[in-house]
Amino acid sequence: MSKSYRIAILGATGAVGTELLELLESRNFPVGELKLLASERSVGRWLRFKGEDLPVELVSHRTLENLDLLLASAGGSTSKTWAAVAVEKGAVVIDNSSAFRMKPEVPLVVPEVNPLAAANHQGIIANPNCTTILMTVAIWPLHQISPIKRIVASTYQSASGAGAKAMAEVKTQARAILQGQEPLAEVLPYPLAFNLFPHNSPLNDLGYCEEEMKMVNETRKIFGDQQVRISATCIRVPVLRAHSEAINLEFESPFSADAAREILSCAPGVKLIEDWKNNYFPMPMEATGQDEVLVGRIRQDISHPCGLELWLCGDQIRKGAALNAVQIAELLVERNLLKPAKAYVSSETE
Ligand code: A2P
Repeated sequence: MSKSYRIAILGATGAVGTELLELLESRNFPVGELKLLASERSVGRWLRFKGEDLPVELVSHRTLENLDLLLASAGGSTSKTWAAVAVEKGAVVIDNSSAFRMKPEVPLVVPEVNPLAAANHQGIIANPNCTTILMTVAIWPLHQISPIKRIVASTYQSASGAGAKAMAEVKTQARAILQGQEPLAEVLPYPLAFNLFPHNSPLNDLGYCEEEMKMVNETRKIFGDQQVRISATCIRVPVLRAHSEAINLEFESPFSADAAREILSCAPGVKLIEDWKNNYFPMPMEATGQDEVLVGRIRQDISHPCGLELWLCGDQIRKGAALNAVQIAELLVERNLLKPAKAYVSSETE
């Protein structure tokens, strides 16, 4: 009989947690036991898994006992509190927060890009930032053929990146505006319906926000290439759950749009959508619910002989978060890497 695993989802009631639950079921992950963990706010709620209602429990030392795998998606501070505890108790943690991503001892994994990195885990594996996952899936196959020297990314990020409450708030704001009322912003910093604003994560001294620096630092770590130069501008847009990105790439030597198209037409995790005649390209509404990153509008950069432009859309909750985490878990199972680490010892450096 094939092995099954004792799994917990931390943040099971959230946007990503709910998707993790669905993916474990739809991808037939070998789940033996499943615990659903969240804050005390959710105790008393029940969620359905494979036709059975399971209770949501409070995350605690007790509920983290006897696990093979913890899928954590409850924010950075919750992960900082509980990930090492779960590792100490014998679980491998796949963490969706940014808490551990830049720690040298923590692999940062996109299965289509750097699956081998997972083998070096010491109990915690980090799931990258959503915009970074979507971008790296699309450009890694090109980087393999001809090294990318520089990336300039502009993102159009959906409300889902700020959680289930933010998605609900955009709908409420849209209804309010259509009824001639003032939209309230309680979860998001400003009204997002019929609006957009630069990503509101903390700014550094150079004027880049944290989300933009995640794209810079995480992409370099995933690529194992500190030389690639990256600049990003991240914008929140009134879309519910799929992110879009306009990417400008500069290669060491000219890279034709046709060659890029051919490579991306069969790249893992990528779906090429280009109908030039009808001006039809990836859209967030069509990326919603899909596993692949939709890529299109691949064209030569008319301002640079070694430049390429492309456009992508990907479901932020799915490939940008939950699906990538479940794919990491599948990789661990396939390669027999879902084994307890001794203990997670955090380095000070990042
Ligand atoms: P809860 O519903 O009990 O607040 P989202 O990203 O959609 O906002 O979801 C965040 C998820 O993280 C929710 O499941 C939420 O649970 C959970 N969460 C937030 N804070 C904590 C915490 N301190 N302890 C455990 N779970 C938490």
